[in-house]
Amino acid sequence: MAKLLSRQDNHILVTAALPYANGSIHIGHLLEYISTDIFVRALRLLNKDVLYICADDTHGTPIQVNAMKQGVSPRELILKSHKEHYRDLTAFEVSFDNFYLTDSPENQELVYYIYNEALKKGLIYKKEVEQLYCEYDKMFLPDRLVRGTCPVCGAESQYGDVCEKCGAVYNATDLINPKCAICGAKPVIKKSNNYFFKLSALSNELKDWLLSNPQLPKEIVNSMMTWINKGLKDWAISRPKPYFGFPIPNDPNNFFYVWFDAPIGYIASTKNYCDKHGRNFEDYWKSDRAKIIHVIGKDITYFHFLFWPALLISGGFSLPYAEVVHGFVNINGEKMSKSRGTFITASRFLSSKVDPEFLRFYFAVNLSRKLSDINLDFEDFKEKINSNLIGNIANFSYRVLSFTNKNFNSEITDFEFKNMQEEVLKLADEVVDAYLDFNLSLAVKKILEISDIGNKFFQDNAPWKMIKDRSRFEEAHRVVSFTVGIVKILSILLKPILPNYSRQLEVQLGCSDELNFSDINFNLPNKRIGKAKIVIRKLDKEFDEFLEKNHLNKGNNREVEKMDNFSKVDLRVAVVKEVSDHPNADKLYVLKIGLGDEERQLVAGLKKYYKPEELIGKHIIIVANLKHAKLRGVESQGMLLAADNGEAVKVLEAPNSRPGSSVFVEGIEKTPVKELNLDEFLALGLKTISKQAVYLDKPLRTDEEIIRVDMPDGSKIR
Ligand code: 2FM
Ligand code: ZN
Repeated sequence: MAKLLSRQDNHILVTAALPYANGSIHIGHLLEYISTDIFVRALRLLNKDVLYICADDTHGTPIQVNAMKQGVSPRELILKSHKEHYRDLTAFEVSFDNFYLTDSPENQELVYYIYNEALKKGLIYKKEVEQLYCEYDKMFLPDRLVRGTCPVCGAESQYGDVCEKCGAVYNATDLINPKCAICGAKPVIKKSNNYFFKLSALSNELKDWLLSNPQLPKEIVNSMMTWINKGLKDWAISRPKPYFGFPIPNDPNNFFYVWFDAPIGYIASTKNYCDKHGRNFEDYWKSDRAKIIHVIGKDITYFHFLFWPALLISGGFSLPYAEVVHGFVNINGEKMSKSRGTFITASRFLSSKVDPEFLRFYFAVNLSRKLSDINLDFEDFKEKINSNLIGNIANFSYRVLSFTNKNFNSEITDFEFKNMQEEVLKLADEVVDAYLDFNLSLAVKKILEISDIGNKFFQDNAPWKMIKDRSRFEEAHRVVSFTVGIVKILSILLKPILPNYSRQLEVQLGCSDELNFSDINFNLPNKRIGKAKIVIRKLDKEFDEFLEKNHLNKGNNREVEKMDNFSKVDLRVAVVKEVSDHPNADKLYVLKIGLGDEERQLVAGLKKYYKPEELIGKHIIIVANLKHAKLRGVESQGMLLAADNGEAVKVLEAPNSRPGSSVFVEGIEKTPVKELNLDEFLALGLKTISKQAVYLDKPLRTDEEIIRVDMPDGSKIR
């Protein structure tokens, strides 16, 4: 692929994908924000005019549904997430020039502007379409609230808009065997009005951009071309109410689909920044001079290579100069998973007390402009930090500076080692070029080569021996001064990756002003350094303990826990749909429940504690693989869980989790048996502690929440 940027390029706008304001920043987000941050910091050190723009993506169904469940307004939920996101990203030194919200006046204005421009160009039309409607929940089902089989590749349990397996974009009505994600019922098809964007009318413009742009990954261009050549389907850009988003002008019953306004948020956030800083956002978005670079994950390419450029074209904005696409982060070689306990949020990583800059370094070591996934392997992590960062770079720097403090009164002398100096400067140039090309792994590789040169030179010359011989004292001083110069160059080159460490190194070097890439040379302005300090240390036992405690070290732990008795049980969330009296028993109810893609009947002894209407609609927890049993002549296909202390009884609930979703304990792999006996289940001894449902001392949970129940400690769960 052509080099991303050259030394001459200037006026650069860099964006990272907008995180949903719903849920925490995790290690997958961090890969993108950190790697982009390293790139942007390098551009700043070249004194480029560069902006790093981001925002929280605030619209759409999940945010609306979550806010509803938490009993707060969407706005409250958004602001809470925004604050948390900002805190987490700052902890990892992600330095956005602007981190805004898509739910902003600037964005609304730009959305309407682009929409109106598209209208004028005849690119928008209204059509009555068939949509999925849940008669039980009495609502049109937004894409994220339908699940079914992908009509293109056959992957099961996909959302109504895109397939996460094959990337195909389709209509929810195309799903095979669709199910309402709220109640599990089969939705019906109902007519509603929808707004469409004539994507097909822009096929030629899109083709031109895709084919004439050397800064787009070939494999993605090829797959987009396949879509275009097959004929693009028009894009449904509205959703009927209830929907959380911007209303369509003059039509309060319809809203813009979140993917219409989200990328426009890139422009809105730029505008917000420019307005605050006396600049004009059009200098970036409507000028040939500026270069727009989007960094995204490979799961959202369709949006960024077809829909988004189409919106830019119709609004008369500049098209992206480049799109840098990265893969996903795997943990110890496997997909991140909440049930396996390998879902690592930013705050969980921070709780390890590991220096956040170590993660920046590790990502840099592993990231180039490739689409392949990155593996965060904690053993490899420890090895890379300990041997490369500490063993090679940090130890060398400390050794050289402390030697200068001790033996030369912190003073530097003139020297000339022409060949070696040239070699180092050439490598330094290559590091800068690698940064310009978003090739972070190459940058680190070359930095390590420079450090190797310094280490070897120091070791081979053995200045600690030289200084014992008066006649060689000056020579020793020259040797050491040269290596101090190498430390200076290293500190500058590392700055995009390790801003804090580098800054501290600069202070030790006696540089009061911050250095940038134009200071890459061997001169030390004051000819005098400050005091050497150890700033970063190897990962040791504390880190091992963190891995151990969090079950993040490979293999052994998980193998053991796979054998746990709890593994055999299949606990699931179910929604109560109907409650009726048992025909032959006073204390029992017969419940109809939904499990996502299946309906079942349960018998439960709850009559004394709940009225039917108190149970209907509740998201309860059942043992789904319990041997079916007849209770007084009525079959019970599983058992619901309730906490019981001999006086009161309360059913366990998972109000924020989808019916059908798995209930598990972190760190214990689920390998359910086909049929579980009641005795086997009761032997587990589930109980309540601190208002949580626990197995041993670990809370039961779903991907969404921990299972809480307001009962005294020690109540039995069964
Ligand atoms: O996939 C996501 O997480 C989206 N929130 C990304 C949006 S990027 C941009 F286009 F707005
Ligand atoms: Zn439903």
